[in-house]
Amino acid sequence: MKSLIVGHGGRESALGMRMAQSSTLYAFMGHVNPTLAHLVSDTGGEYAIGDVCDALSIADYASSNSVDIAMVSSDNPLEAGVVDALQAEGIPVVGPTRDGAEIEWNKAFSRQVVSKIEPTANPQYILVRDVEGLADAISDMSRDSREVVIKPVGLTGGKGVKVVGPHLPDNEAAYEYGSSIILSGQAGGAVIVEERLDAPEFTIQAMTDGKKVVFPPATYDYPYRYDGDSGPGTGGMGSYSMAGGLLPFLDKSTYEHACQITEDAIHYLVRSGRHFTGCMNAGFFATEEGPKVIEFNSRFGDPEGLNIMTLFEGDWVDVMYAMHHGKLNDLLIPLAGESSVVVYLVSPEYALKQGNPHHFSLDNGRASAAGVSVYFSSACEESPGQFVTVGTSRAVAFATCAPILADARERVYGVIESVVDGSLEYRKDIALV
Ligand code: GLY
Repeated sequence: MKSLIVGHGGRESALGMRMAQSSTLYAFMGHVNPTLAHLVSDTGGEYAIGDVCDALSIADYASSNSVDIAMVSSDNPLEAGVVDALQAEGIPVVGPTRDGAEIEWNKAFSRQVVSKIEPTANPQYILVRDVEGLADAISDMSRDSREVVIKPVGLTGGKGVKVVGPHLPDNEAAYEYGSSIILSGQAGGAVIVEERLDAPEFTIQAMTDGKKVVFPPATYDYPYRYDGDSGPGTGGMGSYSMAGGLLPFLDKSTYEHACQITEDAIHYLVRSGRHFTGCMNAGFFATEEGPKVIEFNSRFGDPEGLNIMTLFEGDWVDVMYAMHHGKLNDLLIPLAGESSVVVYLVSPEYALKQGNPHHFSLDNGRASAAGVSVYFSSACEESPGQFVTVGTSRAVAFATCAPILADARERVYGVIESVVDGSLEYRKDIALV
């Protein structure tokens, strides 16, 4: 059995690790991710380096290697139609087609979906496609002293949302930022101006075959660069989930309500003729009036997907087949009833500016012996145990689970401090609740 993972992030490392437990792993990635390269080699598979958005090349690679099933769970490849191209080659594949993934790559469409299924779960928002309307939209949205949020409509790698207060000093800066998106034509060339909601955030990672939806524990992401949620918004610096499935601020009825909204969104897409399998990572605010949708991601979250893969105790290739054939059920997704913690180590310049490569050493064997999984992301192996960062991004994640959250947290940080040497940075307050 040959399985293919597309992408090279920590999320793909975690998925690949599960896929390699019961199949020969193939990988199509943008750089040689050390976790995936080792898994490929250990299982007798192969990898290719290329553009992970080059849908036709990926389909050709899968076909020429007689891949039995593929998994695509990364935003840019999904927008680029990698699932569509694999389907056209007759390769069984898990992940939404480009039109299914529109719920992520077009935030205006996403807000329309919420308006159809549960309008009260949308914050107030105005879609703005030209600069002429931007000042009025910001002024409307900020009446009654509300602060506003500017969201590019298209994909920005988790770095595009800017909030007046933490990221932008005032409405004038919000106007400058919004108009720069519109005039550049990048990230969809349009923005959504939203009211700022002040409530704790959580994510639901709904796994689905398009009909059946399985809900794991809620996860909490840390999408700001520095401790105390200071600094710029980033791809998450870490995440946690708790035994029992809830979070310290999240009650059962809000969790179940958010699950229902997520399930309704998946079914709405499928009823509209869009193909959706895999995972919907849905972000919510837990407000006093109930859950409000922040955004939908048409794939596992990163880092939140690492929590789920760390808790997963089944056969992920079986799950992939069940998702592909419309035969998913709860029993296929057994999860340890424990708490889980993920911490990312990043380049010092991450989310700030372009930087130079950073060299670091990491003793994966000691991490593993201590019960902590290591998932490489934007890093390559220079020699055994010696690594270098690729670009200015998240380099490597550490994850574990334990019955008590504090124990999982202590284990992850203890391992990071004892097995890594180099100048990578990480938040020290992940899962400190
Ligand atoms: N953690 C949110 C995301 O994966 O985009």
